[in-house]
Amino acid sequence: RTFGRRKFLQTTGALGVAATVGIGAASDSAAAVEVQEPAQWTEEMVNEIEVTDENTAPYLDEDPTQIAEEAGYWVWDTWPLRNRDGSIAVIDGYQIIFSLVADKTRPEINVPGDRHNYARVGYFYSRTGKSEGSKGWQFGGEVFDEDAFLGNQTWAGSAMYDQDEEQIYHFYTAAEALPEARQRLALAKGATIETGPQDVHITESDSHHILAEADGEMYEKLENSSGIITAFRDPWYFTHPETGEDWMIFEGNTPTANDDPTNPLNYNGNIGAAKAMNDELTEWKLMPPIFEAVGVSQQTERPHFIFHEDKWYLFFITHEFTYAPQLWSEGGRFRKEGKPPGPEALHGFAADGLYDSDMEPLNGSSLVVANPEEAPFQTYSWLAMPHGKDGIVESFVNFQDVDTLGLYGEELKEAFGGTLAPSLKLQIDGTETSVTTELQDGQFPASVGARSRGNGPK
Ligand code: FRU
Repeated sequence: RTFGRRKFLQTTGALGVAATVGIGAASDSAAAVEVQEPAQWTEEMVNEIEVTDENTAPYLDEDPTQIAEEAGYWVWDTWPLRNRDGSIAVIDGYQIIFSLVADKTRPEINVPGDRHNYARVGYFYSRTGKSEGSKGWQFGGEVFDEDAFLGNQTWAGSAMYDQDEEQIYHFYTAAEALPEARQRLALAKGATIETGPQDVHITESDSHHILAEADGEMYEKLENSSGIITAFRDPWYFTHPETGEDWMIFEGNTPTANDDPTNPLNYNGNIGAAKAMNDELTEWKLMPPIFEAVGVSQQTERPHFIFHEDKWYLFFITHEFTYAPQLWSEGGRFRKEGKPPGPEALHGFAADGLYDSDMEPLNGSSLVVANPEEAPFQTYSWLAMPHGKDGIVESFVNFQDVDTLGLYGEELKEAFGGTLAPSLKLQIDGTETSVTTELQDGQFPASVGARSRGNGPK
């Protein structure tokens, strides 16, 4: 590395050697998870980034199905209801997805970025897992009572359905506006699902819990940061496929204690991990990060895994503007200041386990899905899900057909998509991937590997 990585490791007290962590009370599994130094996203990998036919989403030349138009909500980050084992849940014949949504009529939302301050979790249900037709996604409403959720707004997460308990575990980010401006990992429990012949109703969650906060040692606290956006968010729950333990990964930042905002060390995204310490999933232990992008990118958003043929495929998303300035052709952060080192994109790595310092970037560079060059902000917030031996990647329409940097205010609001984009089929072959087919808007992969509760409405 070119800028004092060794010193940084000493000052932050990051792990020096591989260590094995004890397994918590919640499991008596014999297998133990071996903690290793976080894998690194390096400048060398970024230099390999090339937008090709294999990694480019088709240009959107039609208006996508406006699944949320009738509901009157903007829709962006989305995740499916999954069973404990990670398979997509089918509840009495229905699939359910959760999205960050914001009420379009809120007068406070003047530009698309304002929506983050009013983000709520909403849900859609469908018999087909697609948008189109009468059995396509229907909006069910917001999932949390306005007075019950923690934080001022709820940001991305994941949702697990326990088939025995018949309840939803909503993992979400309890985000707070200034002056706190903090993000904490939260869980809402107690929601059940009622189904009828035409509709699905998700009941209120009756208990909300904070599961983890940035500790300032492994995960940077906002007050210690001089970076552009400090994160502690996007909890993604999974059952560890080898130990059976409950874990989550999330987006964080590595403390780099540098006051100079132009220093590459302040571009310090990481992917954190935490392990459940009780069966109720209300107590969690923060574990060291599994992945770091120090000197590369400030953000490694919405991290998630696909388990496929003994490999752990780690995916995350990142914007152009969060790449470290020294990677830009003119040392800038926006297109008008130089050529971006990489596009708005989904990235992926193939690992041999949860911790694998040597995880391999997919396609050499880690780039998996990018927007077409003529519409570089067309979609964002890609989520990769297993579909047999392939993957399905969903995302939302961000700015279709415009160079957003030239637009402001009402004009920009007009250009915002705020609905689910066409999903993509992703062929995964070892460490090579390719985008092969454009699917329907908001298509999810429940048809393969789904586990059902019931066969029809009850
Ligand atoms: C990705 C993201 C997430 C966050 C959400 C907030 O698009 O930035 O990391 O939870 O949007 O709206």
